[in-house]
Amino acid sequence: MTDANTKPANQPIPMLDLRAQYATLRAEIRAALDEVLESQQFILGRQGLALEKELAGFCGARFAVGVASGTDALILALHAAGVGPGDEVLVPAFTYIATADAVSLLGAKPVFVDILPDTFNIDPAQIETRITSRTRVVVPVHLYGQPAEMDSILALAARRGLRVIEDNAQAIGAKYKGRTTGALAEMGSLSFFPTKNLGGYGDGGMILTNSEDLERRLRSLRFHGTGANRYISEEQGWNSRLDEMQAAVLRVKLRHLEKCNAARQAHAARYTSLLKDVPGITAPATAAGCAHVYHQYTVRIAGRGPVRDLVQKKLAARGIATTVYYPIPLHLQPMFAGLGYKAGDFPEAERAASEVLSLPMYPELLPAQIERVAQALAAVVREEFGG
Ligand SMILES: Cc1ncc(COP(=O)(O)O)c(C=O)c1O
Repeated sequence: MTDANTKPANQPIPMLDLRAQYATLRAEIRAALDEVLESQQFILGRQGLALEKELAGFCGARFAVGVASGTDALILALHAAGVGPGDEVLVPAFTYIATADAVSLLGAKPVFVDILPDTFNIDPAQIETRITSRTRVVVPVHLYGQPAEMDSILALAARRGLRVIEDNAQAIGAKYKGRTTGALAEMGSLSFFPTKNLGGYGDGGMILTNSEDLERRLRSLRFHGTGANRYISEEQGWNSRLDEMQAAVLRVKLRHLEKCNAARQAHAARYTSLLKDVPGITAPATAAGCAHVYHQYTVRIAGRGPVRDLVQKKLAARGIATTVYYPIPLHLQPMFAGLGYKAGDFPEAERAASEVLSLPMYPELLPAQIERVAQALAAVVREEFGG
């Protein structure tokens, strides 16, 4: 077993270290999995129901419905909001592909909106310019763990008769003006992909809502459109359930989530204090009134793609992993070529894609590792920009 506290100074530093987390939770997780094995109930049992209650409570929503992935959470939420062929859904041009994929899988059209340069989140002022008579829903994404500007988005949506679904895949536990993200709009989605702040040991997702009608509908949609009788389908649905093994692991991890998010915040503060005055690097900003949960700690490297890519290569040569989330904005993804967008349509999304670099970030990261990453990054960037 690797002890995270005894890593030699020159060992490679990964983007995240799930082994280090497992080492601290091993006994609890094994006991939880044993309980499921002894019960021999694997789908829609006691663990899933308990997790739904616990997560609804954690996020401040009345209801939570477990599904098979964060992508499915978006698909079912959009479908429950009435989205279908011919409809348009507004999504940020800079996010993970799943946000827009969920829209197009339902036969609807993702309509992209540029982002704000400081938070990387959808620009509320530009949402209005993209609304047409076919627009049904806005999907703000709390990217990297930072809340989008929900007050402006919710006010605009109410004024223009649009529904709002938060893509909260990266931001579980983040706070917007004192309230937890994912429960601020009519529905919010969660992802339990293993690398997420609350990550399972496989795929998983959840939908949060305060509406009893939506909760009932979502429970039906995830199980072939059935209700109390599993063999009578009222409408077409999916097979998309969060299984008991995942729920058991997630219940253990949820007990540690606040502590883990606080560790991420402390690591981010340390990174920022070490990087804030280095020319050529822009440390991430936290929007006023928000608590960012740093699913990713993402800096900008001035000078666009080639410089950023060189910086990444040089860090890799020093044993430091980094990742570009995301190298291609959604409007330029081959998958959406048919929508008619072109380079230059969303300047901030395009600039972000060419400048961002996410640094190692996980709760068990050690202070010495943070210093090593920051020092190496500063040194490599100075080679490029001088200073
Ligand atoms: C912003 C965003 N939306 C949606 C998803 C989809 O989640 P999943 O991978 O669980 O389907 C992810 C994560 O992968 C994500 O980062």
